[in-house]
Amino acid sequence: MSLRQFISSRKFLRSFDIIKENVSLKWKEVAELFNLHEDVFENPRHIRLKKPVSVILIGAGHRGGIYADYAVENPDEMKIVSVSDINVKRRNTIKKLHNISDTYCYSNWQDVFKVPKFADAVIIATPDHLHTQPCLAALEAGYDVLLEKPIAPTEEECRLIYNKAQASNNIVGVCHVLRYSPYFRELKEVLDAGLIGNIISLQHMEPIEQIHMSHSYVRGKWRNSKSATPILLAKSSHDTDIIRWLVNSPAKDVHCFGNLKWFTNINAPEGSTERCTDGCKVESSCPYSALQIYLRDKKRLYVFDMPENKSEWDDFILEKLKTTDYGRCVYRMDNDQPDHLTVNMLFENGVTAAFSMEAHVSYEGRRTRIMGSKGDIVGNMESFIMTDFKTRKQTSWKMKTDAHGGGDHRLVKDWIQAVAQKDKGLLSSSIDVSIESHLMAFAAEKSRLNRTIEEVKLISNEYLIENG
Ligand SMILES: NC(=O)c1ccc[n+]([C@@H]2O[C@H](COP(=O)([O-])OP(=O)(O)OC[C@H]3O[C@@H](n4cnc5c(N)ncnc54)[C@H](O)[C@@H]3O)[C@@H](O)[C@H]2O)c1
Repeated sequence: MSLRQFISSRKFLRSFDIIKENVSLKWKEVAELFNLHEDVFENPRHIRLKKPVSVILIGAGHRGGIYADYAVENPDEMKIVSVSDINVKRRNTIKKLHNISDTYCYSNWQDVFKVPKFADAVIIATPDHLHTQPCLAALEAGYDVLLEKPIAPTEEECRLIYNKAQASNNIVGVCHVLRYSPYFRELKEVLDAGLIGNIISLQHMEPIEQIHMSHSYVRGKWRNSKSATPILLAKSSHDTDIIRWLVNSPAKDVHCFGNLKWFTNINAPEGSTERCTDGCKVESSCPYSALQIYLRDKKRLYVFDMPENKSEWDDFILEKLKTTDYGRCVYRMDNDQPDHLTVNMLFENGVTAAFSMEAHVSYEGRRTRIMGSKGDIVGNMESFIMTDFKTRKQTSWKMKTDAHGGGDHRLVKDWIQAVAQKDKGLLSSSIDVSIESHLMAFAAEKSRLNRTIEEVKLISNEYLIENG
Protein backbone atom coordinates (compact mmCIF):
# COMPACT_ATOMS: atom_id res chain seq x y z
CA MET A 1 0.00 0.00 0.00
CA SER A 2 1.47 3.36 -1.02
CA LEU A 3 1.70 6.18 1.48
CA ARG A 4 -0.97 8.04 -0.43
CA GLN A 5 -3.33 5.02 -0.24
CA PHE A 6 -2.45 4.56 3.42
CA ILE A 7 -3.25 8.15 4.22
CA SER A 8 -6.59 8.10 2.46
CA SER A 9 -7.57 4.63 3.61
CA ARG A 10 -10.90 4.76 5.36
CA LYS A 11 -9.72 2.57 8.25
CA PHE A 12 -6.90 4.98 8.87
CA LEU A 13 -9.31 7.89 8.65
CA ARG A 14 -11.80 6.40 11.08
CA SER A 15 -9.27 5.66 13.77
CA PHE A 16 -7.30 8.89 13.53
CA ASP A 17 -9.77 11.41 12.21
CA ILE A 18 -7.77 14.46 13.08
CA ILE A 19 -4.54 13.16 11.55
CA LYS A 20 -6.07 13.43 8.09
CA GLU A 21 -6.35 17.15 8.53
CA ASN A 22 -2.81 17.45 9.80
CA VAL A 23 -1.42 15.37 6.97
CA SER A 24 -3.18 17.54 4.40
CA LEU A 25 -1.75 20.65 5.92
CA LYS A 26 1.76 19.30 6.36
CA TRP A 27 1.93 17.23 3.23
CA LYS A 28 5.04 18.90 1.91
CA GLU A 29 7.02 17.80 4.96
CA VAL A 30 5.66 14.26 4.77
CA ALA A 31 6.46 14.07 1.06
CA GLU A 32 10.00 15.24 1.67
CA LEU A 33 10.49 12.65 4.39
CA PHE A 34 9.40 9.80 2.14
CA ASN A 35 10.96 11.26 -1.00
CA LEU A 36 7.53 11.45 -2.65
CA HIS A 37 5.89 13.88 -5.02
CA GLU A 38 4.52 16.71 -2.92
CA ASP A 39 1.10 16.50 -4.57
CA VAL A 40 -1.13 14.51 -2.23
CA PHE A 41 -3.53 13.99 -5.14
CA GLU A 42 -0.97 12.43 -7.41
CA ASN A 43 -2.50 9.89 -9.75
CA PRO A 44 -0.66 6.53 -9.62
CA ARG A 45 -1.56 6.02 -13.30
CA HIS A 46 0.58 8.98 -14.30
CA ILE A 47 3.85 8.09 -15.98
CA ARG A 48 7.11 9.96 -16.42
CA LEU A 49 7.03 11.30 -19.99
CA LYS A 50 9.84 10.56 -22.41
CA LYS A 51 9.31 13.95 -24.06
CA PRO A 52 6.99 16.88 -23.38
CA VAL A 53 3.63 16.99 -25.12
CA SER A 54 3.80 19.73 -27.78
CA VAL A 55 0.91 22.16 -27.64
CA ILE A 56 -0.53 24.96 -29.77
CA LEU A 57 -2.22 27.71 -27.77
CA ILE A 58 -5.23 29.28 -29.48
CA GLY A 59 -6.34 32.32 -27.51
CA ALA A 60 -3.55 33.80 -25.39
CA GLY A 61 -5.79 35.74 -23.00
CA HIS A 62 -6.43 35.29 -19.30
CA ARG A 63 -7.25 31.58 -19.32
CA GLY A 64 -4.85 30.65 -22.12
CA GLY A 65 -2.03 32.30 -20.16
CA ILE A 66 -2.84 30.28 -17.03
CA TYR A 67 -2.77 26.97 -18.90
CA ALA A 68 0.41 27.91 -20.82
CA ASP A 69 2.14 28.69 -17.51
CA TYR A 70 2.02 24.98 -16.78
CA ALA A 71 4.69 24.53 -19.47
CA VAL A 72 6.93 27.08 -17.76
CA GLU A 73 6.65 25.23 -14.47
CA ASN A 74 6.80 21.73 -16.00
CA PRO A 75 8.97 21.91 -19.13
CA ASP A 76 9.49 18.14 -19.20
CA GLU A 77 5.71 17.58 -19.48
CA MET A 78 4.43 20.28 -21.82
CA LYS A 79 5.91 22.60 -24.44
CA ILE A 80 4.04 25.47 -26.08
CA VAL A 81 5.27 25.33 -29.68
CA SER A 82 2.84 27.74 -31.30
CA VAL A 83 0.47 30.56 -30.42
CA SER A 84 -2.46 32.19 -32.14
CA ASP A 85 -4.16 35.40 -31.01
CA ILE A 86 -5.55 38.42 -32.82
CA ASN A 87 -4.12 40.58 -30.02
CA VAL A 88 -0.47 41.27 -30.93
CA LYS A 89 0.61 42.10 -27.40
CA ARG A 90 -0.72 38.85 -25.94
CA ARG A 91 0.64 36.83 -28.84
CA ASN A 92 4.08 38.35 -28.34
CA THR A 93 4.03 37.77 -24.58
CA ILE A 94 3.50 34.04 -25.14
CA LYS A 95 5.98 33.98 -28.03
CA LYS A 96 8.68 35.48 -25.80
CA LEU A 97 7.89 33.42 -22.72
CA HIS A 98 7.93 30.13 -24.61
CA ASN A 99 10.59 30.99 -27.14
CA ILE A 100 8.39 30.35 -30.18
CA SER A 101 9.71 31.13 -33.65
CA ASP A 102 7.84 33.63 -35.86
CA THR A 103 6.81 30.81 -38.22
CA TYR A 104 4.58 29.38 -35.51
CA CYS A 105 2.93 32.60 -34.35
CA TYR A 106 -0.45 33.16 -35.96
CA SER A 107 -2.74 36.16 -35.86
CA ASN A 108 -5.90 34.09 -36.32
CA TRP A 109 -6.95 30.59 -35.28
CA GLN A 110 -7.74 29.59 -38.89
CA ASP A 111 -4.08 29.97 -39.90
CA VAL A 112 -3.04 27.20 -37.51
CA PHE A 113 -4.98 24.67 -39.55
CA LYS A 114 -3.73 25.82 -42.95
CA VAL A 115 -0.49 23.91 -42.34
CA PRO A 116 -0.18 20.15 -41.80
CA LYS A 117 -0.34 18.89 -38.21
CA PHE A 118 2.82 19.99 -36.37
CA ALA A 119 2.09 19.35 -32.67
CA ASP A 120 0.41 16.81 -30.42
CA ALA A 121 -2.44 18.90 -29.12
CA VAL A 122 -4.26 22.23 -29.07
CA ILE A 123 -5.55 24.36 -26.20
CA ILE A 124 -8.59 26.41 -27.20
CA ALA A 125 -9.11 29.41 -24.90
CA THR A 126 -10.83 31.82 -27.26
CA PRO A 127 -14.09 33.63 -26.39
CA ASP A 128 -17.25 31.51 -26.02
CA HIS A 129 -18.49 32.08 -29.59
CA LEU A 130 -15.12 30.95 -30.98
CA HIS A 131 -14.95 27.42 -29.57
CA THR A 132 -16.87 25.35 -32.09
CA GLN A 133 -15.03 26.08 -35.31
CA PRO A 134 -11.47 25.86 -33.93
CA CYS A 135 -12.37 22.67 -32.06
CA LEU A 136 -13.89 21.01 -35.12
CA ALA A 137 -10.87 22.08 -37.21
CA ALA A 138 -8.46 20.73 -34.59
CA LEU A 139 -10.23 17.36 -34.49
CA GLU A 140 -10.37 17.23 -38.27
CA ALA A 141 -6.59 17.77 -38.38
CA GLY A 142 -6.05 14.98 -35.83
CA TYR A 143 -5.14 17.01 -32.75
CA ASP A 144 -6.11 16.21 -29.18
CA VAL A 145 -7.82 19.20 -27.59
CA LEU A 146 -8.21 21.01 -24.29
CA LEU A 147 -11.33 23.12 -24.73
CA GLU A 148 -12.35 25.94 -22.42
CA LYS A 149 -15.85 25.76 -21.06
CA PRO A 150 -18.53 26.36 -22.14
CA ILE A 151 -18.03 23.74 -24.82
CA ALA A 152 -20.14 25.89 -27.16
CA PRO A 153 -22.91 28.48 -26.83
CA THR A 154 -25.71 26.28 -28.21
CA GLU A 155 -26.83 22.72 -27.67
CA GLU A 156 -26.50 22.01 -31.39
CA GLU A 157 -22.86 23.11 -31.44
CA CYS A 158 -22.11 21.05 -28.33
CA ARG A 159 -23.63 18.09 -30.12
CA LEU A 160 -21.49 18.76 -33.23
CA ILE A 161 -18.29 18.79 -31.17
CA TYR A 162 -19.32 15.73 -29.18
CA ASN A 163 -20.09 13.76 -32.36
CA LYS A 164 -16.87 14.83 -34.01
CA ALA A 165 -14.86 13.85 -30.93
CA GLN A 166 -16.50 10.41 -30.87
CA ALA A 167 -15.92 9.87 -34.58
CA SER A 168 -12.29 10.99 -34.45
CA ASN A 169 -11.40 9.15 -31.26
CA ASN A 170 -9.27 12.12 -30.25
CA ILE A 171 -9.22 13.44 -26.72
CA VAL A 172 -11.34 16.50 -25.96
CA GLY A 173 -10.82 17.64 -22.40
CA VAL A 174 -13.21 20.30 -21.09
CA CYS A 175 -11.92 22.86 -18.58
CA HIS A 176 -14.22 21.96 -15.73
CA VAL A 177 -11.40 22.79 -13.40
CA LEU A 178 -13.32 22.30 -10.15
CA ARG A 179 -13.21 18.53 -10.64
CA TYR A 180 -9.47 18.77 -10.15
CA SER A 181 -9.57 20.81 -6.96
CA PRO A 182 -8.49 18.90 -3.85
CA TYR A 183 -11.71 19.95 -2.10
CA PHE A 184 -14.09 18.38 -4.63
CA ARG A 185 -11.81 15.40 -5.25
CA GLU A 186 -11.77 14.61 -1.57
CA LEU A 187 -15.54 15.08 -1.26
CA LYS A 188 -16.01 12.68 -4.16
CA GLU A 189 -13.77 10.09 -2.49
CA VAL A 190 -15.66 10.37 0.79
CA LEU A 191 -19.03 9.96 -0.96
CA ASP A 192 -17.92 7.09 -3.20
CA ALA A 193 -16.49 5.30 -0.16
CA GLY A 194 -19.99 5.45 1.38
CA LEU A 195 -18.85 7.28 4.50
CA ILE A 196 -22.19 9.10 4.80
CA GLY A 197 -24.20 6.15 3.46
CA ASN A 198 -26.50 6.78 0.51
CA ILE A 199 -26.72 10.35 -0.68
CA ILE A 200 -30.26 11.59 -0.10
CA SER A 201 -30.01 15.19 -1.19
CA LEU A 202 -27.60 18.04 -1.78
CA GLN A 203 -27.54 21.81 -1.46
CA HIS A 204 -24.95 23.76 -3.38
CA MET A 205 -24.39 27.49 -3.50
CA GLU A 206 -22.19 29.48 -5.83
CA PRO A 207 -21.46 32.87 -4.28
CA ILE A 208 -20.09 34.90 -7.20
CA GLU A 209 -19.15 37.90 -4.98
CA GLN A 210 -20.58 41.25 -5.99
CA ILE A 211 -17.44 42.85 -7.49
CA HIS A 212 -16.70 39.71 -9.51
CA MET A 213 -20.31 39.81 -10.74
CA SER A 214 -20.03 43.46 -11.77
CA HIS A 215 -16.70 42.85 -13.49
CA SER A 216 -17.62 39.78 -15.53
CA TYR A 217 -21.41 39.66 -15.84
CA VAL A 218 -22.49 43.33 -15.70
CA ARG A 219 -19.64 45.28 -17.31
CA GLY A 220 -17.59 42.44 -18.73
CA LYS A 221 -17.47 39.98 -21.61
CA TRP A 222 -20.24 37.74 -20.33
CA ARG A 223 -22.79 40.42 -19.46
CA ASN A 224 -25.18 39.57 -22.23
CA SER A 225 -26.60 36.08 -22.66
CA LYS A 226 -27.02 36.54 -26.39
CA SER A 227 -23.59 37.88 -27.27
CA ALA A 228 -21.88 35.45 -24.84
CA THR A 229 -23.79 32.53 -23.28
CA PRO A 230 -26.44 32.38 -20.54
CA ILE A 231 -24.81 32.65 -17.11
CA LEU A 232 -26.11 29.17 -16.32
CA LEU A 233 -23.66 27.94 -18.91
CA ALA A 234 -20.93 30.57 -18.62
CA LYS A 235 -20.63 30.29 -14.85
CA SER A 236 -22.84 27.57 -13.44
CA SER A 237 -21.96 24.70 -15.79
CA HIS A 238 -19.09 24.17 -13.31
CA ASP A 239 -21.74 23.59 -10.66
CA THR A 240 -24.14 21.45 -12.67
CA ASP A 241 -21.07 19.37 -13.51
CA ILE A 242 -19.87 19.05 -9.91
CA ILE A 243 -23.34 18.24 -8.58
CA ARG A 244 -23.92 15.56 -11.22
CA TRP A 245 -20.44 14.12 -10.51
CA LEU A 246 -20.97 13.97 -6.75
CA VAL A 247 -24.49 12.54 -7.03
CA ASN A 248 -23.14 9.94 -9.46
CA SER A 249 -26.33 9.64 -11.44
CA PRO A 250 -27.70 11.30 -14.59
CA ALA A 251 -30.06 14.24 -14.09
CA LYS A 252 -33.69 13.62 -14.98
CA ASP A 253 -35.59 16.89 -14.50
CA VAL A 254 -34.61 20.47 -13.76
CA HIS A 255 -36.49 23.58 -12.83
CA CYS A 256 -35.12 27.11 -12.57
CA PHE A 257 -36.23 30.50 -11.26
CA GLY A 258 -34.01 33.54 -11.62
CA ASN A 259 -33.85 37.08 -12.88
CA LEU A 260 -31.85 40.26 -13.04
CA LYS A 261 -33.01 42.24 -10.05
CA TRP A 262 -30.41 44.87 -9.22
CA PHE A 263 -28.07 45.84 -12.06
CA THR A 264 -30.73 47.59 -14.12
CA ASN A 265 -31.46 51.12 -15.33
CA ILE A 266 -34.26 51.61 -12.84
CA ASN A 267 -31.79 51.29 -9.94
CA ALA A 268 -29.38 53.93 -11.26
CA PRO A 269 -28.94 56.35 -8.34
CA GLU A 270 -29.86 60.03 -8.65
CA GLY A 271 -26.77 61.92 -9.79
CA SER A 272 -25.08 58.89 -11.41
CA THR A 273 -23.57 59.28 -14.89
CA GLU A 274 -22.89 57.05 -17.90
CA ARG A 275 -19.31 56.51 -16.72
CA CYS A 276 -17.78 56.68 -13.25
CA THR A 277 -15.28 59.15 -14.75
CA ASP A 278 -18.01 61.58 -15.89
CA GLY A 279 -18.25 63.35 -12.51
CA CYS A 280 -20.76 60.91 -11.00
CA LYS A 281 -22.17 62.44 -7.81
CA VAL A 282 -22.43 59.10 -5.98
CA GLU A 283 -19.08 57.66 -7.07
CA SER A 284 -17.51 57.89 -3.61
CA SER A 285 -20.34 55.94 -1.98
CA CYS A 286 -20.99 53.40 -4.76
CA PRO A 287 -19.75 49.83 -4.09
CA TYR A 288 -19.29 49.40 -7.85
CA SER A 289 -17.21 52.53 -8.52
CA ALA A 290 -14.85 51.64 -11.37
CA LEU A 291 -12.44 54.29 -10.07
CA GLN A 292 -12.31 52.43 -6.75
CA ILE A 293 -12.07 48.89 -8.16
CA TYR A 294 -9.61 49.39 -11.00
CA LEU A 295 -7.76 52.65 -10.31
CA ARG A 296 -7.50 52.88 -6.53
CA ASP A 297 -7.62 49.18 -5.55
CA LYS A 298 -5.87 47.98 -8.78
CA LYS A 299 -8.08 44.88 -8.89
CA ARG A 300 -8.85 42.66 -11.92
CA LEU A 301 -6.44 44.54 -14.18
CA TYR A 302 -5.71 41.44 -16.30
CA VAL A 303 -8.38 42.57 -18.78
CA PHE A 304 -6.34 45.68 -19.70
CA ASP A 305 -2.98 44.36 -20.99
CA MET A 306 -1.13 46.63 -18.56
CA PRO A 307 2.11 48.38 -19.53
CA GLU A 308 5.27 46.96 -17.96
CA ASN A 309 6.27 50.28 -16.45
CA LYS A 310 4.16 50.69 -13.31
CA SER A 311 4.59 54.46 -13.26
CA GLU A 312 2.36 54.56 -16.37
CA TRP A 313 -0.41 52.56 -14.75
CA ASP A 314 -2.68 55.27 -13.33
CA ASP A 315 -2.94 57.23 -16.60
CA PHE A 316 -3.37 54.00 -18.53
CA ILE A 317 -6.18 52.73 -16.27
CA LEU A 318 -7.94 56.08 -16.31
CA GLU A 319 -7.89 56.05 -20.10
CA LYS A 320 -9.35 52.51 -20.09
CA LEU A 321 -12.13 53.61 -17.74
CA LYS A 322 -12.97 56.45 -20.13
CA THR A 323 -13.01 54.27 -23.23
CA THR A 324 -13.95 50.66 -22.35
CA ASP A 325 -16.99 48.99 -20.80
CA TYR A 326 -15.13 48.63 -17.50
CA GLY A 327 -15.62 52.35 -16.77
CA ARG A 328 -19.36 52.33 -17.42
CA CYS A 329 -22.03 52.63 -14.75
CA VAL A 330 -23.24 49.18 -13.64
CA TYR A 331 -26.84 50.43 -13.80
CA ARG A 332 -26.61 51.63 -17.40
CA MET A 333 -25.25 48.60 -19.27
CA ASP A 334 -26.85 46.29 -21.86
CA ASN A 335 -26.54 43.35 -19.44
CA ASP A 336 -29.25 40.72 -19.09
CA GLN A 337 -27.62 37.97 -16.99
CA PRO A 338 -29.61 37.08 -13.85
CA ASP A 339 -27.94 38.19 -10.61
CA HIS A 340 -29.65 35.43 -8.62
CA LEU A 341 -31.11 32.10 -9.61
CA THR A 342 -32.08 28.77 -8.15
CA VAL A 343 -32.16 25.40 -9.89
CA ASN A 344 -33.89 22.33 -8.53
CA MET A 345 -32.71 19.01 -9.89
CA LEU A 346 -34.02 15.47 -9.70
CA PHE A 347 -31.58 12.69 -10.53
CA GLU A 348 -32.36 9.22 -11.86
CA ASN A 349 -31.31 7.67 -8.53
CA GLY A 350 -33.93 9.75 -6.70
CA VAL A 351 -31.46 12.25 -5.20
CA THR A 352 -32.60 15.87 -5.26
CA ALA A 353 -30.30 18.87 -5.45
CA ALA A 354 -30.96 22.55 -4.86
CA PHE A 355 -28.48 24.92 -6.44
CA SER A 356 -28.35 28.66 -6.01
CA MET A 357 -26.15 31.18 -7.78
CA GLU A 358 -25.85 34.45 -5.88
CA ALA A 359 -24.24 37.69 -7.03
CA HIS A 360 -25.04 39.83 -4.00
CA VAL A 361 -22.56 38.38 -1.53
CA SER A 362 -19.30 39.66 -0.11
CA TYR A 363 -17.46 36.32 -0.40
CA GLU A 364 -16.49 33.66 -2.96
CA GLY A 365 -16.08 29.90 -2.64
CA ARG A 366 -18.74 27.30 -3.26
CA ARG A 367 -20.78 26.16 -0.28
CA THR A 368 -21.88 22.52 -0.16
CA ARG A 369 -24.18 20.57 2.14
CA ILE A 370 -24.63 16.89 1.46
CA MET A 371 -27.24 14.90 3.32
CA GLY A 372 -26.69 11.12 3.54
CA SER A 373 -28.39 8.17 5.19
CA LYS A 374 -25.60 7.76 7.76
CA GLY A 375 -24.15 11.23 8.07
CA ASP A 376 -23.86 14.66 6.55
CA ILE A 377 -21.22 17.01 5.20
CA VAL A 378 -20.92 20.79 5.38
CA GLY A 379 -18.19 22.42 3.30
CA ASN A 380 -17.00 25.74 1.91
CA MET A 381 -14.39 24.88 -0.73
CA GLU A 382 -11.49 25.18 1.72
CA SER A 383 -12.68 22.77 4.33
CA PHE A 384 -15.48 20.39 5.13
CA ILE A 385 -16.81 18.65 8.22
CA MET A 386 -18.40 15.22 8.06
CA THR A 387 -20.62 14.14 10.94
CA ASP A 388 -21.53 10.52 11.63
CA PHE A 389 -25.18 10.23 12.80
CA LYS A 390 -24.55 7.19 15.05
CA THR A 391 -21.34 8.18 16.81
CA ARG A 392 -21.68 12.00 16.39
CA LYS A 393 -17.98 11.92 15.56
CA GLN A 394 -16.79 14.65 13.25
CA THR A 395 -14.04 14.40 10.64
CA SER A 396 -12.61 17.57 9.20
CA TRP A 397 -10.57 18.26 6.11
CA LYS A 398 -8.87 21.51 5.22
CA MET A 399 -6.70 22.94 2.46
CA LYS A 400 -6.30 26.54 1.36
CA THR A 401 -6.12 27.06 -2.41
CA ASP A 402 -7.06 29.64 -5.05
CA ALA A 403 -10.51 30.64 -6.41
CA HIS A 404 -10.59 27.53 -8.61
CA GLY A 405 -9.64 25.38 -5.66
CA GLY A 406 -6.21 24.73 -7.17
CA GLY A 407 -7.81 22.91 -10.11
CA ASP A 408 -6.33 24.78 -13.11
CA HIS A 409 -2.92 23.14 -13.26
CA ARG A 410 -4.11 19.79 -11.96
CA LEU A 411 -6.46 19.70 -14.95
CA VAL A 412 -3.58 20.42 -17.34
CA LYS A 413 -1.49 17.72 -15.69
CA ASP A 414 -4.21 15.09 -16.20
CA TRP A 415 -4.87 16.27 -19.76
CA ILE A 416 -1.16 16.04 -20.63
CA GLN A 417 -1.10 12.50 -19.27
CA ALA A 418 -4.25 11.59 -21.20
CA VAL A 419 -2.72 12.92 -24.44
CA ALA A 420 0.67 11.29 -23.86
CA GLN A 421 -0.89 7.93 -22.99
CA LYS A 422 -3.72 8.27 -25.54
CA ASP A 423 -6.18 7.42 -22.76
CA LYS A 424 -9.11 9.74 -22.12
CA GLY A 425 -9.91 7.68 -19.03
CA LEU A 426 -7.12 9.60 -17.29
CA LEU A 427 -9.19 12.73 -17.59
CA SER A 428 -12.14 13.29 -15.30
CA SER A 429 -13.66 15.94 -17.57
CA SER A 430 -13.54 14.55 -21.09
CA ILE A 431 -16.35 15.77 -23.34
CA ASP A 432 -18.19 12.45 -22.90
CA VAL A 433 -19.04 13.38 -19.33
CA SER A 434 -18.76 17.16 -19.44
CA ILE A 435 -21.48 17.53 -22.03
CA GLU A 436 -24.06 16.39 -19.47
CA SER A 437 -23.50 19.50 -17.36
CA HIS A 438 -24.19 21.59 -20.44
CA LEU A 439 -27.40 19.71 -21.23
CA MET A 440 -28.49 20.36 -17.64
CA ALA A 441 -27.65 24.06 -17.99
CA PHE A 442 -29.47 24.41 -21.33
CA ALA A 443 -32.53 22.69 -19.84
CA ALA A 444 -32.39 24.95 -16.75
CA GLU A 445 -32.18 28.09 -18.90
CA LYS A 446 -35.16 26.86 -20.94
CA SER A 447 -37.07 26.31 -17.70
CA ARG A 448 -36.16 29.80 -16.42
CA LEU A 449 -37.37 31.46 -19.61
CA ASN A 450 -40.49 29.33 -20.13
CA ARG A 451 -41.47 28.69 -16.49
CA THR A 452 -41.50 24.95 -17.08
CA ILE A 453 -40.02 21.79 -15.62
CA GLU A 454 -37.58 20.47 -18.22
CA GLU A 455 -36.48 16.91 -18.82
CA VAL A 456 -32.71 16.57 -19.31
CA LYS A 457 -32.27 14.62 -22.50
CA LEU A 458 -29.18 12.56 -22.10
CA ILE A 459 -26.51 11.61 -24.55
CA SER A 460 -27.14 7.89 -24.31
CA ASN A 461 -30.76 8.27 -25.42
CA GLU A 462 -30.31 10.85 -28.07
CA TYR A 463 -26.77 11.65 -29.09
CA LEU A 464 -25.48 8.14 -29.55
CA ILE A 465 -28.49 7.03 -31.58
CA GLU A 466 -28.11 9.97 -33.93
CA ASN A 467 -24.44 9.26 -34.10
CA GLY A 468 -25.25 5.85 -35.54
N1 LIG B 1 -12.71 27.26 -16.87
C1 LIG B 1 -13.02 28.38 -16.26
O1 LIG B 1 -13.21 28.41 -15.06
C2 LIG B 1 -13.13 29.67 -17.03
C3 LIG B 1 -12.99 30.89 -16.36
C4 LIG B 1 -13.06 32.06 -17.12
C5 LIG B 1 -13.28 31.99 -18.49
N2 LIG B 1 -13.45 30.78 -19.10
C6 LIG B 1 -13.66 30.68 -20.55
O2 LIG B 1 -12.38 30.73 -21.18
C7 LIG B 1 -12.49 31.35 -22.48
C8 LIG B 1 -11.49 32.49 -22.57
O3 LIG B 1 -11.77 33.43 -21.56
P1 LIG B 1 -10.69 34.53 -21.12
O4 LIG B 1 -11.17 35.13 -19.86
O5 LIG B 1 -9.34 33.95 -21.18
O6 LIG B 1 -10.89 35.59 -22.29
P2 LIG B 1 -9.78 36.55 -22.90
O7 LIG B 1 -10.52 37.58 -23.65
O8 LIG B 1 -8.82 36.99 -21.84
O9 LIG B 1 -8.98 35.61 -23.91
C9 LIG B 1 -9.48 35.22 -25.16
C10 LIG B 1 -8.38 35.45 -26.18
O10 LIG B 1 -8.83 34.97 -27.45
C11 LIG B 1 -8.28 35.86 -28.42
N3 LIG B 1 -8.99 35.75 -29.69
C12 LIG B 1 -10.15 36.35 -30.07
N4 LIG B 1 -10.44 36.04 -31.33
C13 LIG B 1 -9.45 35.23 -31.79
C14 LIG B 1 -9.18 34.59 -33.03
N5 LIG B 1 -10.00 34.75 -34.08
N6 LIG B 1 -8.07 33.82 -33.16
C15 LIG B 1 -7.21 33.68 -32.10
N7 LIG B 1 -7.42 34.28 -30.90
C16 LIG B 1 -8.51 35.03 -30.76
C17 LIG B 1 -8.44 37.23 -27.78
O11 LIG B 1 -7.64 38.21 -28.40
C18 LIG B 1 -8.05 36.93 -26.34
O12 LIG B 1 -6.67 37.17 -26.10
C19 LIG B 1 -13.94 31.78 -22.60
O13 LIG B 1 -14.67 30.84 -23.33
C20 LIG B 1 -14.42 31.82 -21.16
O14 LIG B 1 -15.80 31.63 -21.02
C21 LIG B 1 -13.37 29.63 -18.39
